[in-house]
Amino acid sequence: MEKFKVKDLTLTSSGDLQLEWASKHMPVLTQIKERLSEEKPLKDTTLGACLHVTKETGVLVETFLAAGAKVALCGSNPLSTQDDVAAALVKKGANVFAWRGQTTDEYYWCVERVLDFTPLMTLDDGADLVGTLHGKRKKSLPKVKGGTEETTTGVLRLRAMEEKGALKYPIIAVNDAYTKYLFDNRYGTGQSTLDGILRATNILLAGKNFVVCGYGWCGKGIAMRAQGMGASVVVTEVNPLRALEATMDGFRVMPIAEAATIGDIFVTATGDTSIIRKEHMQKMRDGAILANSGHFNVEVNQKDLAQISSKQRNVRPNLDEYTLKGGQKLYLLAEGRLVNLAAAEGHPSEVMDMSFANQALCVEYIAKNDRMEPKVHQVPKEIDENVAKLKLGAMHIKIDELTKEQKKYLSAWELGTT
Ligand SMILES: NC(=O)c1ccc[n+]([C@@H]2O[C@H](COP(=O)([O-])OP(=O)(O)OC[C@H]3O[C@@H](n4cnc5c(N)ncnc54)[C@H](O)[C@@H]3O)[C@@H](O)[C@H]2O)c1
Repeated sequence: MEKFKVKDLTLTSSGDLQLEWASKHMPVLTQIKERLSEEKPLKDTTLGACLHVTKETGVLVETFLAAGAKVALCGSNPLSTQDDVAAALVKKGANVFAWRGQTTDEYYWCVERVLDFTPLMTLDDGADLVGTLHGKRKKSLPKVKGGTEETTTGVLRLRAMEEKGALKYPIIAVNDAYTKYLFDNRYGTGQSTLDGILRATNILLAGKNFVVCGYGWCGKGIAMRAQGMGASVVVTEVNPLRALEATMDGFRVMPIAEAATIGDIFVTATGDTSIIRKEHMQKMRDGAILANSGHFNVEVNQKDLAQISSKQRNVRPNLDEYTLKGGQKLYLLAEGRLVNLAAAEGHPSEVMDMSFANQALCVEYIAKNDRMEPKVHQVPKEIDENVAKLKLGAMHIKIDELTKEQKKYLSAWELGTT
């Protein structure tokens, strides 16, 4: 059985420095790690993980190793692996199958190598591990006790499986914890998406028409941060409530067909498919930049882009130029994959601190609970609140407590107008 496959083991010392830097900014996960390393609740437990192999994921893997687990890890996107971190994790004892720049076949080869370890629990980001386990590798299913899912798209896929009676073991939707999506999807994706766009292009955002497709938690963060950099933000939506919210947050809202004619930069963050299609691309201004921050590379329709182009060339790392048959040029970032992970380093450690604190505590919860039904579960409220408390503490922020009088008042119905 293959033990690991990474790009270059000589990158270990650089990876170690990255892990050290990330863990310094992940105080909540570090506290959890200290406790788990004493209690060893995951002794002899094999975890199979399909997560973006970043320095923050590295700190999570170190936490599991310290808790006694054996960890097999692959990347959850062909372009998001940080090769030095992958090398450092192998040296620390994890079985890592990940490198940056994989083909789709190589990507799924890595997913299957993780499943060769017959994990007791799975950690997924986008549900490719769970999908493979329920498809090609269903023989290993009875050995799995439970799992976690990190992102919106993965949770959507799992809910679809649950509805069809296809989901065979319990999975906790880490994405849906308040201490995950309110911070990671909003502030994490917001900041790191702009980071990815800037690293790939180094353009000035001030004065640009910046189109955000999808005003969900990620879209809100991206719009907020782009506005903060002086861009004029336009939002496209299909959900009337979210469109209204975007309007009252001060953004122009219009259909993509209209936004296509005025946008300088387009970012998709919908979790949906073919948001930007050829009829939109053909109307775009010369020089328009297209990026995606949603989970899969299907939001900008790349078949359409190739079909209407006469020429394609790479101009800078993560920046491909497409010359349309009419002559105008469009620029696609990071092959339409998550721009914040492919062209930058993903979310800052401080937000992953909360997301991965939820992951660590949910894995511990599954290890200690034997009666979970095979469905999508919410993160237990105590875990979510505990992560918020620990984070506030780590940020040296104190808050008030309810007085006895206030507790009584808030639970009474007798008192009204005085
Ligand atoms: N880049 C990252 O690091 C990162 C982090 C977290 C989540 N994600 C991914 O980003 C995507 C969005 O996540 P979210 O938490 O914001 O989801 P969300 O469900 O909160 O928001 C998605 C929004 O897109 C809208 N939408 C759907 N189809 C649309 C269309 N055709 N045109 C315009 N809008 C449309 C929906 O109405 C919704 O408001 C998911 O794929 C998620 O997995 C990426």
